Amino acid sequence: MDSIVVTGGQRLNGTIPISGAKNATLPLMIASLLTSEPVIFENVPDLADVNSLIRILTNHGVDYRVEGKRRGQQDLTGRTIHFSAEEIADTTAPYELVAKMRASFWVIGPLLARMHEAKVSLPGGCAIGTRPVDLFIASLEAMGAEITVEGGYVIASAKGGLKGAIYEFPKVSVGATHVAMMAATLAKGKTVLKNAAREPEVVDLATCLISMGANISGVGTSTITIEGVENLHGCRHRVLPDRIETGTYAMAVAMTGGDVLLKGAQPGLLQEVLDVLERVGVTIEPVNDGIRVSRNGAALKPVDIATDPFPGFPTDLQAQFMALMTRADGVSNIQETIFENRFMHVQELARLGAKIALDGQHAEVTGVAELTGAQVMATDLRASVSLVIAGLAAEGKTTVSRVYHLDRGFEHLEEKLSNCGALIERVSG
Ligand code: EPZ
Repeated sequence: MDSIVVTGGQRLNGTIPISGAKNATLPLMIASLLTSEPVIFENVPDLADVNSLIRILTNHGVDYRVEGKRRGQQDLTGRTIHFSAEEIADTTAPYELVAKMRASFWVIGPLLARMHEAKVSLPGGCAIGTRPVDLFIASLEAMGAEITVEGGYVIASAKGGLKGAIYEFPKVSVGATHVAMMAATLAKGKTVLKNAAREPEVVDLATCLISMGANISGVGTSTITIEGVENLHGCRHRVLPDRIETGTYAMAVAMTGGDVLLKGAQPGLLQEVLDVLERVGVTIEPVNDGIRVSRNGAALKPVDIATDPFPGFPTDLQAQFMALMTRADGVSNIQETIFENRFMHVQELARLGAKIALDGQHAEVTGVAELTGAQVMATDLRASVSLVIAGLAAEGKTTVSRVYHLDRGFEHLEEKLSNCGALIERVSG
Protein backbone atom coordinates (compact mmCIF):
# COMPACT_ATOMS: atom_id res chain seq x y z
CA MET A 1 0.00 0.00 0.00
CA ASP A 2 1.37 3.45 -0.91
CA SER A 3 2.27 6.08 1.68
CA ILE A 4 2.88 9.78 1.40
CA VAL A 5 5.95 11.18 3.09
CA VAL A 6 5.97 14.88 3.91
CA THR A 7 8.96 16.74 5.28
CA GLY A 8 7.56 19.81 6.99
CA GLY A 9 8.76 23.36 7.27
CA GLN A 10 8.59 24.65 3.69
CA ARG A 11 6.47 27.68 2.79
CA LEU A 12 4.21 27.25 -0.22
CA ASN A 13 4.69 29.64 -3.13
CA GLY A 14 3.38 29.44 -6.69
CA THR A 15 0.22 28.34 -8.46
CA ILE A 16 -2.10 25.40 -7.81
CA PRO A 17 -4.66 24.64 -10.53
CA ILE A 18 -8.03 23.72 -9.02
CA SER A 19 -9.62 20.60 -10.50
CA GLY A 20 -13.23 19.93 -11.39
CA ALA A 21 -15.31 19.10 -8.32
CA LYS A 22 -15.51 15.41 -7.45
CA ASN A 23 -18.88 15.89 -5.78
CA ALA A 24 -20.32 17.54 -8.89
CA THR A 25 -18.73 15.09 -11.33
CA LEU A 26 -20.28 12.01 -9.70
CA PRO A 27 -23.96 13.09 -9.90
CA LEU A 28 -23.36 14.57 -13.37
CA MET A 29 -22.02 11.25 -14.64
CA ILE A 30 -25.03 9.50 -13.11
CA ALA A 31 -27.36 11.94 -14.89
CA SER A 32 -26.07 10.56 -18.21
CA LEU A 33 -28.32 7.54 -17.50
CA LEU A 34 -31.36 9.79 -18.06
CA THR A 35 -30.92 10.11 -21.83
CA SER A 36 -30.15 7.88 -24.81
CA GLU A 37 -28.05 10.70 -26.31
CA PRO A 38 -24.36 11.36 -25.53
CA VAL A 39 -23.55 13.69 -22.65
CA ILE A 40 -20.08 15.22 -22.63
CA PHE A 41 -18.37 16.52 -19.50
CA GLU A 42 -15.33 18.77 -19.54
CA ASN A 43 -12.97 19.33 -16.61
CA VAL A 44 -13.49 15.84 -15.17
CA PRO A 45 -10.91 15.13 -12.45
CA ASP A 46 -8.80 11.99 -12.66
CA LEU A 47 -9.83 10.34 -9.38
CA ALA A 48 -10.38 6.83 -8.08
CA ASP A 49 -14.05 7.65 -7.33
CA VAL A 50 -14.63 8.76 -10.94
CA ASN A 51 -13.09 5.53 -12.20
CA SER A 52 -15.20 3.44 -9.80
CA LEU A 53 -18.34 5.16 -11.04
CA ILE A 54 -17.31 4.53 -14.65
CA ARG A 55 -17.26 0.80 -13.80
CA ILE A 56 -20.76 1.04 -12.34
CA LEU A 57 -22.13 2.95 -15.32
CA THR A 58 -20.61 0.54 -17.85
CA ASN A 59 -22.30 -2.27 -15.95
CA HIS A 60 -25.63 -0.57 -16.73
CA GLY A 61 -24.63 -0.46 -20.41
CA VAL A 62 -23.17 3.05 -20.62
CA ASP A 63 -20.37 3.56 -23.18
CA TYR A 64 -17.72 6.13 -22.45
CA ARG A 65 -14.81 7.67 -24.28
CA VAL A 66 -12.08 9.89 -22.90
CA GLU A 67 -11.23 12.66 -25.37
CA GLY A 68 -7.55 12.92 -26.34
CA LYS A 69 -5.49 15.86 -25.16
CA ARG A 70 -5.68 19.01 -27.23
CA ARG A 71 -2.52 20.68 -28.51
CA GLY A 72 -1.07 22.95 -25.84
CA GLN A 73 -3.23 21.46 -23.13
CA GLN A 74 -1.33 21.49 -19.86
CA ASP A 75 -0.95 18.68 -17.43
CA LEU A 76 -3.05 18.83 -14.27
CA THR A 77 -6.13 19.97 -16.17
CA GLY A 78 -9.29 17.90 -16.34
CA ARG A 79 -10.28 15.39 -18.94
CA THR A 80 -13.25 15.51 -21.29
CA ILE A 81 -15.35 12.35 -21.16
CA HIS A 82 -18.28 11.34 -23.37
CA PHE A 83 -20.95 9.13 -21.82
CA SER A 84 -23.61 7.43 -23.88
CA ALA A 85 -26.46 5.49 -22.28
CA GLU A 86 -28.16 4.68 -25.60
CA GLU A 87 -29.59 1.54 -24.06
CA ILE A 88 -29.72 0.58 -20.41
CA ALA A 89 -28.63 -3.06 -20.39
CA ASP A 90 -29.11 -3.75 -16.69
CA THR A 91 -31.07 -1.96 -13.96
CA THR A 92 -29.23 -3.73 -11.13
CA ALA A 93 -26.30 -2.06 -9.35
CA PRO A 94 -24.56 -4.92 -7.55
CA TYR A 95 -23.04 -4.94 -4.07
CA GLU A 96 -19.45 -5.48 -5.31
CA LEU A 97 -19.58 -2.15 -7.16
CA VAL A 98 -21.83 -0.01 -4.95
CA ALA A 99 -20.27 -0.96 -1.61
CA LYS A 100 -17.12 1.02 -2.41
CA MET A 101 -18.69 4.42 -2.83
CA ARG A 102 -21.91 5.88 -1.44
CA ALA A 103 -22.63 8.09 -4.45
CA SER A 104 -23.05 5.04 -6.68
CA PHE A 105 -26.37 4.41 -4.88
CA TRP A 106 -27.66 7.54 -6.62
CA VAL A 107 -28.14 5.62 -9.92
CA ILE A 108 -31.48 4.62 -8.37
CA GLY A 109 -33.00 7.99 -9.39
CA PRO A 110 -32.30 7.97 -13.15
CA LEU A 111 -32.89 4.21 -13.49
CA LEU A 112 -36.30 4.50 -11.88
CA ALA A 113 -37.18 7.60 -13.91
CA ARG A 114 -36.16 6.18 -17.28
CA MET A 115 -36.59 2.41 -16.90
CA HIS A 116 -39.29 2.46 -14.17
CA GLU A 117 -37.29 -0.05 -12.14
CA ALA A 118 -34.03 -0.33 -10.23
CA LYS A 119 -32.35 -2.76 -7.88
CA VAL A 120 -29.47 -1.09 -6.10
CA SER A 121 -27.28 -2.40 -3.31
CA LEU A 122 -27.30 -0.42 -0.08
CA PRO A 123 -24.25 1.86 -0.24
CA GLY A 124 -20.81 1.97 1.40
CA GLY A 125 -18.36 4.90 1.32
CA CYS A 126 -16.29 6.80 3.87
CA ALA A 127 -16.87 5.60 7.45
CA ILE A 128 -18.04 8.90 8.90
CA GLY A 129 -21.43 7.93 10.33
CA THR A 130 -24.40 5.66 9.75
CA ARG A 131 -25.49 7.48 6.59
CA PRO A 132 -28.93 5.89 6.03
CA VAL A 133 -30.97 6.07 2.79
CA ASP A 134 -34.40 6.77 4.29
CA LEU A 135 -34.72 10.19 2.62
CA PHE A 136 -34.05 8.73 -0.83
CA ILE A 137 -36.71 6.10 -0.27
CA ALA A 138 -39.29 8.53 1.13
CA SER A 139 -38.87 11.07 -1.69
CA LEU A 140 -39.07 8.41 -4.42
CA GLU A 141 -42.10 6.84 -2.72
CA ALA A 142 -43.75 10.27 -2.73
CA MET A 143 -43.31 10.18 -6.52
CA GLY A 144 -45.20 6.89 -6.68
CA ALA A 145 -42.36 4.36 -6.51
CA GLU A 146 -42.92 1.08 -4.73
CA ILE A 147 -39.85 0.26 -2.71
CA THR A 148 -38.74 -2.72 -0.64
CA VAL A 149 -35.41 -3.49 0.99
CA GLU A 150 -34.43 -7.15 0.63
CA GLY A 151 -31.12 -8.97 1.01
CA GLY A 152 -29.14 -5.75 1.20
CA TYR A 153 -30.76 -4.31 -1.93
CA VAL A 154 -33.22 -1.47 -2.41
CA ILE A 155 -35.71 -2.71 -5.01
CA ALA A 156 -37.81 -0.01 -6.59
CA SER A 157 -40.43 0.03 -9.31
CA ALA A 158 -42.78 2.59 -10.76
CA LYS A 159 -45.13 0.91 -13.22
CA GLY A 160 -46.28 3.50 -15.73
CA GLY A 161 -43.58 5.92 -14.54
CA LEU A 162 -42.99 8.31 -11.65
CA LYS A 163 -45.51 11.03 -10.87
CA GLY A 164 -44.83 14.58 -9.76
CA ALA A 165 -45.24 15.21 -6.01
CA ILE A 166 -44.68 17.73 -3.27
CA TYR A 167 -42.02 16.43 -0.90
CA GLU A 168 -40.35 18.17 2.03
CA PHE A 169 -37.02 16.68 3.20
CA PRO A 170 -37.05 16.37 7.01
CA LYS A 171 -33.28 16.97 6.91
CA VAL A 172 -31.07 18.60 4.27
CA SER A 173 -29.39 15.89 2.17
CA VAL A 174 -27.18 16.57 -0.82
CA GLY A 175 -27.50 13.06 -2.23
CA ALA A 176 -31.24 12.75 -1.74
CA THR A 177 -31.73 16.16 -3.41
CA HIS A 178 -29.63 15.06 -6.42
CA VAL A 179 -31.62 11.85 -6.75
CA ALA A 180 -35.10 13.31 -6.29
CA MET A 181 -34.30 16.12 -8.74
CA MET A 182 -33.00 13.68 -11.38
CA ALA A 183 -35.98 11.37 -10.87
CA ALA A 184 -38.47 14.25 -11.16
CA THR A 185 -37.12 15.43 -14.53
CA LEU A 186 -38.91 12.53 -16.27
CA ALA A 187 -41.89 12.22 -13.90
CA LYS A 188 -45.41 13.08 -15.08
CA GLY A 189 -46.35 16.55 -13.82
CA LYS A 190 -44.85 18.93 -11.31
CA THR A 191 -42.57 18.05 -8.39
CA VAL A 192 -41.79 20.51 -5.61
CA LEU A 193 -38.83 19.62 -3.36
CA LYS A 194 -38.80 21.58 -0.12
CA ASN A 195 -35.87 21.90 2.30
CA ALA A 196 -33.67 20.86 -0.64
CA ALA A 197 -29.87 21.12 -0.48
CA ARG A 198 -28.44 24.38 -1.85
CA GLU A 199 -24.88 23.14 -2.38
CA PRO A 200 -23.13 24.43 -5.54
CA GLU A 201 -22.90 20.83 -6.76
CA VAL A 202 -26.71 20.61 -6.72
CA VAL A 203 -26.80 23.81 -8.77
CA ASP A 204 -24.23 22.37 -11.20
CA LEU A 205 -26.29 19.21 -11.67
CA ALA A 206 -29.45 21.27 -12.24
CA THR A 207 -27.64 23.48 -14.77
CA CYS A 208 -26.63 20.36 -16.69
CA LEU A 209 -30.13 18.85 -16.47
CA ILE A 210 -31.58 22.11 -17.81
CA SER A 211 -29.11 21.92 -20.76
CA MET A 212 -30.46 18.38 -21.31
CA GLY A 213 -33.98 19.79 -21.64
CA ALA A 214 -35.24 19.52 -18.05
CA ASN A 215 -37.59 22.17 -16.71
CA ILE A 216 -36.22 23.17 -13.28
CA SER A 217 -36.57 26.37 -11.26
CA GLY A 218 -35.59 27.53 -7.79
CA VAL A 219 -32.16 25.92 -7.93
CA GLY A 220 -29.81 27.27 -5.26
CA THR A 221 -32.80 27.96 -2.98
CA SER A 222 -34.32 25.43 -0.62
CA THR A 223 -37.41 24.95 -2.83
CA ILE A 224 -36.77 23.35 -6.21
CA THR A 225 -39.61 22.95 -8.71
CA ILE A 226 -39.36 20.47 -11.56
CA GLU A 227 -41.91 20.12 -14.38
CA GLY A 228 -41.45 16.64 -15.81
CA VAL A 229 -40.70 16.28 -19.53
CA GLU A 230 -41.06 13.28 -21.90
CA ASN A 231 -37.38 12.94 -22.77
CA LEU A 232 -34.03 14.50 -22.09
CA HIS A 233 -31.34 15.00 -24.73
CA GLY A 234 -27.54 15.15 -24.81
CA CYS A 235 -25.44 18.18 -23.87
CA ARG A 236 -21.92 19.39 -23.18
CA HIS A 237 -21.22 20.62 -19.66
CA ARG A 238 -18.13 21.89 -17.84
CA VAL A 239 -17.78 20.65 -14.24
CA LEU A 240 -17.50 23.47 -11.72
CA PRO A 241 -14.25 23.93 -9.73
CA ASP A 242 -13.81 21.94 -6.53
CA ARG A 243 -14.57 24.15 -3.53
CA ILE A 244 -13.28 21.54 -1.09
CA GLU A 245 -9.96 21.24 -2.91
CA THR A 246 -9.80 25.06 -2.99
CA GLY A 247 -10.41 25.32 0.75
CA THR A 248 -7.93 22.53 1.46
CA TYR A 249 -5.07 24.25 -0.36
CA ALA A 250 -6.03 27.62 1.13
CA MET A 251 -5.67 26.01 4.56
CA ALA A 252 -2.35 24.44 3.55
CA VAL A 253 -1.00 27.90 2.68
CA ALA A 254 -2.44 29.28 5.91
CA MET A 255 -0.61 26.54 7.75
CA THR A 256 2.82 26.90 6.14
CA GLY A 257 2.81 30.59 5.20
CA GLY A 258 3.61 31.70 1.66
CA ASP A 259 1.72 33.02 -1.32
CA VAL A 260 -0.25 30.82 -3.72
CA LEU A 261 -2.67 31.45 -6.59
CA LEU A 262 -5.48 28.89 -6.55
CA LYS A 263 -6.09 29.01 -10.27
CA GLY A 264 -9.64 28.60 -11.48
CA ALA A 265 -11.09 28.73 -7.94
CA GLN A 266 -14.35 30.65 -7.49
CA PRO A 267 -14.70 32.59 -4.21
CA GLY A 268 -18.51 32.46 -4.28
CA LEU A 269 -18.38 28.69 -3.83
CA LEU A 270 -16.78 28.96 -0.37
CA GLN A 271 -17.34 32.49 0.91
CA GLU A 272 -17.94 31.37 4.50
CA VAL A 273 -14.63 29.48 4.53
CA LEU A 274 -12.73 32.45 3.08
CA ASP A 275 -14.30 34.75 5.71
CA VAL A 276 -13.20 32.36 8.46
CA LEU A 277 -9.67 32.22 7.05
CA GLU A 278 -9.48 36.02 7.01
CA ARG A 279 -10.45 36.03 10.68
CA VAL A 280 -7.66 33.53 11.28
CA GLY A 281 -5.23 36.07 9.79
CA VAL A 282 -4.86 34.82 6.22
CA THR A 283 -4.92 37.26 3.30
CA ILE A 284 -7.49 36.27 0.70
CA GLU A 285 -7.59 38.14 -2.58
CA PRO A 286 -10.06 37.21 -5.33
CA VAL A 287 -8.30 37.80 -8.65
CA ASN A 288 -9.32 37.40 -12.30
CA ASP A 289 -8.26 33.80 -12.64
CA GLY A 290 -8.82 32.51 -9.13
CA ILE A 291 -8.07 33.26 -5.49
CA ARG A 292 -4.71 34.39 -4.12
CA VAL A 293 -4.02 33.15 -0.61
CA SER A 294 -1.09 34.38 1.45
CA ARG A 295 0.17 34.59 4.98
CA ASN A 296 3.33 36.19 6.25
CA GLY A 297 4.85 35.18 9.58
CA ALA A 298 1.95 36.51 11.71
CA ALA A 299 0.42 34.12 14.27
CA LEU A 300 -2.79 32.24 13.42
CA LYS A 301 -5.76 33.46 15.45
CA PRO A 302 -8.13 30.83 16.89
CA VAL A 303 -11.64 30.91 15.39
CA ASP A 304 -14.68 28.82 16.38
CA ILE A 305 -16.69 27.10 13.65
CA ALA A 306 -19.70 24.80 13.32
CA THR A 307 -20.27 22.81 10.14
CA ASP A 308 -23.53 23.43 8.32
CA PRO A 309 -25.17 22.75 4.96
CA PHE A 310 -24.30 25.32 2.26
CA PRO A 311 -23.79 28.28 2.54
CA GLY A 312 -22.39 27.35 5.96
CA PHE A 313 -18.97 25.94 6.74
CA PRO A 314 -18.69 22.59 4.87
CA THR A 315 -18.22 19.39 6.84
CA ASP A 316 -15.77 18.34 4.10
CA LEU A 317 -13.34 21.05 5.34
CA GLN A 318 -13.75 20.42 9.06
CA ALA A 319 -10.74 18.08 9.38
CA GLN A 320 -8.46 20.43 7.42
CA PHE A 321 -9.56 23.41 9.55
CA MET A 322 -8.88 21.43 12.70
CA ALA A 323 -5.35 20.74 11.46
CA LEU A 324 -4.91 24.49 10.96
CA MET A 325 -6.23 25.32 14.41
CA THR A 326 -3.71 22.97 16.05
CA ARG A 327 -1.16 25.71 15.31
CA ALA A 328 -3.33 28.69 16.34
CA ASP A 329 -2.36 30.99 19.15
CA GLY A 330 -5.10 29.95 21.61
CA VAL A 331 -8.18 27.74 21.89
CA SER A 332 -10.74 27.13 19.14
CA ASN A 333 -14.00 25.17 19.18
CA ILE A 334 -15.16 22.99 16.31
CA GLN A 335 -18.67 21.60 16.18
CA GLU A 336 -19.58 18.89 13.64
CA THR A 337 -23.32 18.99 12.93
CA ILE A 338 -23.66 16.92 9.73
CA PHE A 339 -22.09 13.54 10.49
CA GLU A 340 -21.96 11.83 13.87
CA ASN A 341 -18.58 10.15 13.45
CA ARG A 342 -16.34 12.57 11.62
CA PHE A 343 -13.54 13.10 14.12
CA MET A 344 -11.34 10.15 13.21
CA HIS A 345 -8.47 12.50 12.38
CA VAL A 346 -8.30 13.66 16.01
CA GLN A 347 -6.27 10.74 17.30
CA GLU A 348 -3.97 10.90 14.29
CA LEU A 349 -3.39 14.66 14.71
CA ALA A 350 -2.57 13.90 18.35
CA ARG A 351 0.34 11.72 17.14
CA LEU A 352 1.83 14.88 15.65
CA GLY A 353 1.53 16.63 19.01
CA ALA A 354 -1.86 18.34 18.60
CA LYS A 355 -3.89 19.02 21.75
CA ILE A 356 -7.55 18.26 21.06
CA ALA A 357 -10.27 17.41 23.59
CA LEU A 358 -13.30 15.61 22.14
CA ASP A 359 -16.78 15.68 23.61
CA GLY A 360 -19.36 14.09 21.34
CA GLN A 361 -19.71 16.28 18.28
CA HIS A 362 -17.54 19.01 19.72
CA ALA A 363 -13.75 19.39 19.66
CA GLU A 364 -11.74 21.89 21.64
CA VAL A 365 -8.40 22.55 20.00
CA THR A 366 -5.61 24.17 21.97
CA GLY A 367 -2.95 25.48 19.61
CA VAL A 368 0.61 24.29 20.15
CA ALA A 369 3.84 26.06 19.21
CA GLU A 370 5.06 23.14 17.15
CA LEU A 371 3.86 19.87 15.60
CA THR A 372 6.39 17.09 15.14
CA GLY A 373 6.39 14.55 12.30
CA ALA A 374 5.10 11.04 13.00
CA GLN A 375 3.65 7.98 11.33
CA VAL A 376 -0.11 8.45 10.87
CA MET A 377 -2.94 6.61 9.17
CA ALA A 378 -5.51 7.99 6.76
CA THR A 379 -9.04 7.01 7.85
CA ASP A 380 -11.22 8.78 5.31
CA LEU A 381 -10.77 11.14 2.42
CA ARG A 382 -10.85 14.54 4.14
CA ALA A 383 -9.22 13.23 7.33
CA SER A 384 -6.30 12.01 5.22
CA VAL A 385 -5.64 15.36 3.66
CA SER A 386 -5.82 17.06 7.06
CA LEU A 387 -2.85 14.88 8.05
CA VAL A 388 -0.94 15.96 4.95
CA ILE A 389 -1.59 19.62 5.76
CA ALA A 390 -0.48 19.12 9.33
CA GLY A 391 2.64 17.31 8.07
CA LEU A 392 3.53 20.30 5.87
CA ALA A 393 3.87 22.42 8.99
CA ALA A 394 5.33 19.78 11.31
CA GLU A 395 8.98 19.55 12.25
CA GLY A 396 10.56 16.57 10.47
CA LYS A 397 8.98 13.69 8.56
CA THR A 398 5.32 12.65 8.56
CA THR A 399 4.34 9.41 6.86
CA VAL A 400 0.66 9.07 5.95
CA SER A 401 -0.33 5.48 5.17
CA ARG A 402 -3.50 4.18 3.43
CA VAL A 403 -3.18 6.80 0.74
CA TYR A 404 -5.92 5.23 -1.36
CA HIS A 405 -8.36 7.41 0.58
CA LEU A 406 -6.62 10.52 -0.81
CA ASP A 407 -6.69 9.17 -4.34
CA ARG A 408 -10.48 9.06 -4.15
CA GLY A 409 -10.74 12.83 -4.04
CA PHE A 410 -7.51 14.79 -4.62
CA GLU A 411 -6.16 14.91 -8.15
CA HIS A 412 -2.33 15.08 -8.44
CA LEU A 413 -1.99 16.09 -4.79
CA GLU A 414 1.78 15.53 -4.55
CA GLU A 415 2.54 17.31 -7.84
CA LYS A 416 0.36 20.29 -6.97
CA LEU A 417 2.01 20.74 -3.58
CA SER A 418 5.58 19.98 -4.63
CA ASN A 419 5.27 22.47 -7.53
CA CYS A 420 4.81 25.08 -4.79
CA GLY A 421 7.87 24.02 -2.82
CA ALA A 422 6.47 21.33 -0.50
CA LEU A 423 8.70 18.34 0.21
CA ILE A 424 6.23 15.55 -0.45
CA GLU A 425 6.58 12.19 -2.15
CA ARG A 426 4.68 8.96 -2.62
CA VAL A 427 6.37 5.80 -1.54
CA SER A 428 5.09 2.49 -2.92
CA GLY A 429 4.72 -0.71 -1.00
C1 EPZ B 1 -22.46 14.50 0.17
O1 EPZ B 1 -22.69 13.26 0.81
C2 EPZ B 1 -20.99 14.50 -0.18
N1 EPZ B 1 -20.70 13.41 -1.08
C3 EPZ B 1 -20.15 14.38 1.09
O2 EPZ B 1 -18.79 14.48 0.74
C4 EPZ B 1 -20.52 15.54 2.03
O3 EPZ B 1 -19.80 15.39 3.23
C5 EPZ B 1 -22.01 15.56 2.29
O4 EPZ B 1 -22.75 15.60 1.05
C6 EPZ B 1 -22.46 16.75 3.13
O5 EPZ B 1 -22.11 17.94 2.49
C7 EPZ B 1 -20.87 13.57 -2.38
O6 EPZ B 1 -21.35 14.59 -2.86
C8 EPZ B 1 -20.46 12.44 -3.27
P1 EPZ B 1 -25.96 14.02 2.85
P2 EPZ B 1 -24.16 12.74 1.05
O7 EPZ B 1 -26.99 13.11 2.32
O8 EPZ B 1 -25.03 13.22 -0.04
C9 EPZ B 1 -28.14 12.19 6.64
C10 EPZ B 1 -16.54 13.78 0.67
O9 EPZ B 1 -15.65 13.72 1.54
N2 EPZ B 1 -29.00 11.40 5.75
O10 EPZ B 1 -26.06 15.47 2.55
O11 EPZ B 1 -24.04 11.29 1.30
C11 EPZ B 1 -26.69 11.75 6.61
O12 EPZ B 1 -26.47 10.61 7.41
C12 EPZ B 1 -17.95 13.32 0.97
O13 EPZ B 1 -16.35 14.18 -0.49
C13 EPZ B 1 -30.05 10.70 6.30
O14 EPZ B 1 -30.27 10.72 7.52
O15 EPZ B 1 -24.51 13.50 2.40
C14 EPZ B 1 -26.00 12.99 7.12
O16 EPZ B 1 -26.04 13.03 8.52
C15 EPZ B 1 -18.09 12.62 2.25
N3 EPZ B 1 -30.85 9.95 5.47
C16 EPZ B 1 -26.85 14.12 6.56
O17 EPZ B 1 -28.11 13.53 6.19
C17 EPZ B 1 -30.64 9.90 4.13
O18 EPZ B 1 -31.40 9.21 3.43
C18 EPZ B 1 -26.30 14.80 5.34
O19 EPZ B 1 -25.85 13.82 4.42
C19 EPZ B 1 -29.59 10.64 3.58
C20 EPZ B 1 -28.78 11.40 4.41
